[in-house]
Amino acid sequence: MTAEQITERMLADAVSTMEMMSTALGVRLGLYEALASGPLDARGLADKTGIHPRYAREWLEQQAASGLLTAAADDDPYARAFALPDDVRETLLDTDSVNYAGVLPGLVVSLAEILPRVAEAYGTGDGVPYAAYGPGTRHGIGGMNRPGFHAGIADWVAALPDIEARLSSGPARVLDLGCGTGWSSIALAEAFPAAGVHGVDMDEASVAEASEHAADHGLTDRVTFACADAAEPGAPGPYDLVCTFEALHDMADPVAVLRSAREVLAPGGAVLIGDEKVAERFTAPGDLLERLNYGFSVLHCLPATRAEGAAVEAGTVLRPGTVRSYAAAADYGGCTELPIEHDLWRFYRLDPA
Ligand SMILES: C[S@@+](CC[C@H](N)C(=O)[O-])C[C@H]1O[C@@H](n2cnc3c(N)ncnc32)[C@H](O)[C@@H]1O
Repeated sequence: MTAEQITERMLADAVSTMEMMSTALGVRLGLYEALASGPLDARGLADKTGIHPRYAREWLEQQAASGLLTAAADDDPYARAFALPDDVRETLLDTDSVNYAGVLPGLVVSLAEILPRVAEAYGTGDGVPYAAYGPGTRHGIGGMNRPGFHAGIADWVAALPDIEARLSSGPARVLDLGCGTGWSSIALAEAFPAAGVHGVDMDEASVAEASEHAADHGLTDRVTFACADAAEPGAPGPYDLVCTFEALHDMADPVAVLRSAREVLAPGGAVLIGDEKVAERFTAPGDLLERLNYGFSVLHCLPATRAEGAAVEAGTVLRPGTVRSYAAAADYGGCTELPIEHDLWRFYRLDPA
């Protein structure tokens, strides 16, 4: 690329970044929600949300210029009505839709907010604890993954037919390691009413919210949570299934985690891992998935893992060969990639030797 092309790219990146921040602003202030019940002009949006009309006008114009809102033609900027198209409403507001991404702008902003601390850590070599990233990151991850768990988790387990049979006939037990705010544990319990699920996560705030979510879903009799390191989860088995979704790469000692998972498996039980669908090998330049995962790794996952006093620092870019090497080091007999369709994750089944 020439210097001129790189400058053009920087400008395009700046536009994307500022548009994402403006979307985060709209989510944070409830502006999209206000528009969901029908078109509004600047004063209408201001009245409904309590923001200043001048800011309402600018934000509405910027959103329409960026293509997220549509604008009616009117010469008076305060009389112009702006509408939220259905597809944008689904993506930003429908938390159950598999297309939901309304928490993504807030997640990106949370990474920007903690950048000074991350920069300091780059100098000292220390980490930045997961908890320090706060609710924007926590809710961003949980909110992005929740619809996929609800839509897909039964099918993912069906890719392990013997385990599906055990969970369906019950009584069965599942251990969900690195469960975050609990959505995978809840989805599993809903998909398999004969199963009890225990979720473990190191982040106190996540575990507290996971427990609230289980209570909201009326599942406290079958879904429990505990705050612990997945390497020493304090959750004696036997478990028919131990699973971990988008969390193995965050764990400071993934081999110890897999070893402790193996020790609590019931005879015939298995481990299911869902983690990033990155390329087999490092390639540069990388495709969009590589770039997405390196972005999270540089700004979040690697610093958070280092804060745990990492034995192994995978970063977000957990390649299949690395998962296989962890499985072998933790004395599994088999590590099989599962034929599960997912835009972002690859799935592995681990069986004890
Ligand atoms: C990217 S989040 C995924 C959360 C959840 N599985 C989901 O898909 O929404 C990674 C999670 O791993 C947890 N984690 C990281 N290291 C851990 C460890 N050693 N033991 C238990 N949980 C850990 C973090 O606290 C975080 O909640």
